Amino acid sequence: MGFEQAWLSYEKREVSVQWAGIHMIYAEQKGRIIEHAATELQTAFAKITGKEPVLCLERPEKELNGCILLKQKNGLKEGGYHLFEREGALVIEAPDEGGLLYGAFELIKQLQLGNAYEGMDICKEPVMPLRMLNHWDNMDGSIERGYSGNSFFFDNDEILVDERIVTYARLLASVGINGTVINNVNVKDAATWLITDRYFEKLRQLSEILADYGIKLFLSLNYAAPVELGELDSADPLSEEVRAWWKERMKLVFTQVPNLGGFLIKADSEGRPGPFTYGRTHADGANMLAEAVEPYGGLIIWRCFVYNCKQDWRDYKTDRARSGYDNFKELDGTFRDNVILQIKNGPMDFQVREPVHPLFGALEATNQMLEVQIAQEYTGQQRHVCYLIPMFKEVLSFRTYAAETDDTVEDIVSGKTFKQTKCGMAAVANTGNDENWTGHDLAAANFYGFGRLAFEPSAQAEELAEEWIIRTFGEDKAVREVLLFILMNSWRAYEMYNAPLGIGWMVNPSYHYGPSVDGYEYDRWGTYHRADHVGIGVDRSHQGTGYAGLYREPNASMYDNPESCPDELLLFFHHMPYDHRLRSGKTVIQHIYDTHFEGVELVDEMVKRFEGLEGKLPDKAYQRMLERFHHQKEHSREWRDQINSYFYRKSGIADEKGRKIF
Ligand code: GCU
Repeated sequence: MGFEQAWLSYEKREVSVQWAGIHMIYAEQKGRIIEHAATELQTAFAKITGKEPVLCLERPEKELNGCILLKQKNGLKEGGYHLFEREGALVIEAPDEGGLLYGAFELIKQLQLGNAYEGMDICKEPVMPLRMLNHWDNMDGSIERGYSGNSFFFDNDEILVDERIVTYARLLASVGINGTVINNVNVKDAATWLITDRYFEKLRQLSEILADYGIKLFLSLNYAAPVELGELDSADPLSEEVRAWWKERMKLVFTQVPNLGGFLIKADSEGRPGPFTYGRTHADGANMLAEAVEPYGGLIIWRCFVYNCKQDWRDYKTDRARSGYDNFKELDGTFRDNVILQIKNGPMDFQVREPVHPLFGALEATNQMLEVQIAQEYTGQQRHVCYLIPMFKEVLSFRTYAAETDDTVEDIVSGKTFKQTKCGMAAVANTGNDENWTGHDLAAANFYGFGRLAFEPSAQAEELAEEWIIRTFGEDKAVREVLLFILMNSWRAYEMYNAPLGIGWMVNPSYHYGPSVDGYEYDRWGTYHRADHVGIGVDRSHQGTGYAGLYREPNASMYDNPESCPDELLLFFHHMPYDHRLRSGKTVIQHIYDTHFEGVELVDEMVKRFEGLEGKLPDKAYQRMLERFHHQKEHSREWRDQINSYFYRKSGIADEKGRKIF
């Protein structure tokens, strides 16, 4: 099995007579993306059915049976497609080349899933305009929070352009991703030079490969570039000289790399430079750059991950969770039209459980994008299995009450609520140069699921997992059932043996792996659980930091009151005694014990079922996963014991069930 092709490895399968009868592919219009759509179909059919259809240059005269026809036709939104069967032919109609490519991949998916040919009629439009990956790859080849090898974009301060990039582009297009940022948001050293002629040639080549699959290349930008490149001594966004510098620079960049989509910027965050240095606002900074890229249709994607990372743990007033809101809410409506604010799903930082970021629903006149992380930094680092699509579904379906209807996070980032067209969803990527792309083979379900979800948020997490399993490992029923069981229980299991009830953190500082209950407790990062012998949790109600009040009603009151706050977020919003009874009927302390014991049991069950797949999965993949499952089994015990012991010793309250606590 070719692991490097992931879900596009196209193993030969038993197919129906009709599928096997496809013998010709004809595209009415010409174009580079269309050509790829046609060759993708040709390769997939040849490998899966064993018969290679011919690519036909002339329109077939009459006999359409067994033909695939690609046809540009208006009527759907950009990237949309209509795939249907007519008199034995399969027709893909789309308004643009990208739509035809997506339609072709939809057809390949139908073939891989063994779905019915006759009567096929599928019509889809991408719900979110921008569907992006954010790679945190450094130019020396390392990846910040990367758990699947090194970068395939960079090595030794050079840009790599090779076959893997082509496969990468195909994988992205096959799930509908249409933009990618290839370098880390923490732009330092050589990466600052990406906007200079040192790298233009390679960037152009890369952007063309991506463009052939309907994908725009984006770069992360160093806000202080004019200074760090040694050309100016200021990066003040209101200085005429600085503004002129950026305009000149962007002219050069877009002339040399015409397919560039724009830039992602992390400013005034965790030590990165930004407009604060000059007493200016984020809007000043973003607008200066937006003005410079505007003539080329460029976008400035500005991150809202801004907080005080030098906090004193004794300070109970400053609340990191508030900071995104406090920094950006008042700037609503002051950004240029080609600026998009990119907001993490939660107010902290990709924990296993967080409330939805309160900026969603608060910003009404600003383009916005949702940022999630599939790299699993805090959710097992691609050694534990943690299928995150169910979490993303919850985030997307969260009602903000910013309007009477159509006010969920999904509605906002798909442009429905505030009638925006520059919006969407980005994921911090989980790929590297490991043969299977994602280290843990099952982590590829997050890669796949993210793209599919951004295109079609109504798809169910289970449906996406199942599709991915069949496309990757074939139709074996046992494989499907077991992997589905594992994926669908994995986030729940991870949450159970992790930090309890929405409090988060409790990890080893800096590398963020493995339990350390007090690891961040007395540190400067603003991430505290505030546990003492009586209780645990952060008071974010009106009596505490007031964070709960940042939501619109009825969410604000619901979170503000411990009686109505959902159990899974109780300790995020409230400091509660250990003997407080949750809505579930259990006390906080008993909940901690029970979930930690049960989480480990669930992992044991997952591993037991997985071991039953020996011989049914490709051996290499089986061994790779087995090794990780054994680690997860051990490591979940470590989590259980560290957390249970800590709270047993702190509270002095015994487990009702008398299980062993160290
Ligand atoms: C987290 C992560 C950093 C990253 C940052 C960000 O804090 O640990 O590595 O740079 O998020 O999103 O910018």
